[in-house]
Amino acid sequence: MDDHSLRAVEREEAYWHLPTRERLQALLEDSLDFQGAKTGYASHHLHSFAAKFPPQLPRQFILGLTRPGEIVLDPMAGSGTAVVEAILLQRQGIGVDMDPLAVQISQVKITRLSPGNLADAGKRVLTTAHRLLADGRTLDGLLERNFDDRTRDFVDYWFLPITQRELLALITAINKEPDADVRRFLFLTVSSIIVTKSGGVSLARDLAHSRPHRDLTKRPRSVLEQFQTRLSKNLRGIMSMPDDRNALIVHGNARRLPLANDTVHLIVTSPPYANAIDYMRAHKFSLVWMGHRIADLSEWRARYIGAERLGKFSPPSFPPETQQVIEALSQRDEKKARVLAKYFVEMRGVLSEMYRVLRPGAAAVIVVGTSTMRGLNVQTHLCLAEIATKVGFDLVRIAERRLDRDRRMMPARFGQKGASQIEERMHHEYVVGLLKAEEK
Ligand SMILES: C[S@@+](CC[C@H](N)C(=O)[O-])C[C@H]1O[C@@H](n2cnc3c(N)ncnc32)[C@H](O)[C@@H]1O
Repeated sequence: MDDHSLRAVEREEAYWHLPTRERLQALLEDSLDFQGAKTGYASHHLHSFAAKFPPQLPRQFILGLTRPGEIVLDPMAGSGTAVVEAILLQRQGIGVDMDPLAVQISQVKITRLSPGNLADAGKRVLTTAHRLLADGRTLDGLLERNFDDRTRDFVDYWFLPITQRELLALITAINKEPDADVRRFLFLTVSSIIVTKSGGVSLARDLAHSRPHRDLTKRPRSVLEQFQTRLSKNLRGIMSMPDDRNALIVHGNARRLPLANDTVHLIVTSPPYANAIDYMRAHKFSLVWMGHRIADLSEWRARYIGAERLGKFSPPSFPPETQQVIEALSQRDEKKARVLAKYFVEMRGVLSEMYRVLRPGAAAVIVVGTSTMRGLNVQTHLCLAEIATKVGFDLVRIAERRLDRDRRMMPARFGQKGASQIEERMHHEYVVGLLKAEEK
């Protein structure tokens, strides 16, 4: 259904008398490919983010399954696509994510600020940054004090001295701005010129697609020029957001959602894939400039779903099909099988929380792809659907969608060189539709 027909349906009372199961079934039977659809409207384009879903995907389910004012949750919100769509459709959006940069991105995307104030702040920041650069001594002193040894080594490895000075001048100037929301918007604009597919103003190449590698022949462009260009683009994006912010972004864990039982009208989410997406690998390039230490970021990274650090983890038993997949993998690689088992345990925690916070009779929509581990094709969607039914959900349908290869930026993986494998297999992904049972 296109947006117009969905909007028309939204107005039809008869549609809302259909049971949620029927509406969910119909939405899942519809095409979910959205090939060629415009994805960069409103604040969606503010910052790049690996494996974000097209806005039309959450939009379709929000329009077809909720009414204005109702609560839409994405417990692994990433760059906040579902939350932004919820606000644009006058629903209440809640997003949770563990990644500090993801939280910043979502927060900025949902905060409408006065364009006049932002433009003035941008000009002030550029003037101050140019002044700081002209007076080199202040910056040299700041560069000395700004980082601990490990973070300093990281920064020296990945950023040319001239780029470091320009970035620090900008960050110092932004820190002088009195309004916290304005500062956050401007920081994110800086971040958006660092975390790009090609590594932006750093020396990295392939920052989003694979393990980044340093290219000493790369001549990164001027930070201040890039910032200025990006600022105008980001200002246009934020201006088109509605004025009332009916949304909440939380830096937290999807396995411990800060929400009461039976409160959410719809969940739309896309969890990490089974052999993990290393968000921190790219995000630390900009987080170090926001005051984070490399040591702390590495600690965070181990807590993400799909991270390979196993600690004392010993696998429990799973429902039959999932168990079979883990056993098949364990014949090829024992450690990888434990990583996969840990992923399923963690996802079971997320699914239980999703079940707890959903209202009886409400739907959860999970978008996930398959993974190849040691040559074994892991059908993550089938395993997650099986685990979800153990948690209490009814499985309504699993739909398949084709990926727009040119659009969906596919990220690096933990512990693997190159992204060729993930690139090859990610031509489609699955949309799992679940229902929480009505109260008897
Ligand atoms: C595929 S991305 C979501 C992309 C999102 N749909 C979008 O459009 O931007 C998965 C997200 O799960 C987050 N994540 C991983 N482990 C998490 C956890 N334990 N709790 C909350 N979020 C987590 C990652 O930080 C990442 O942002």
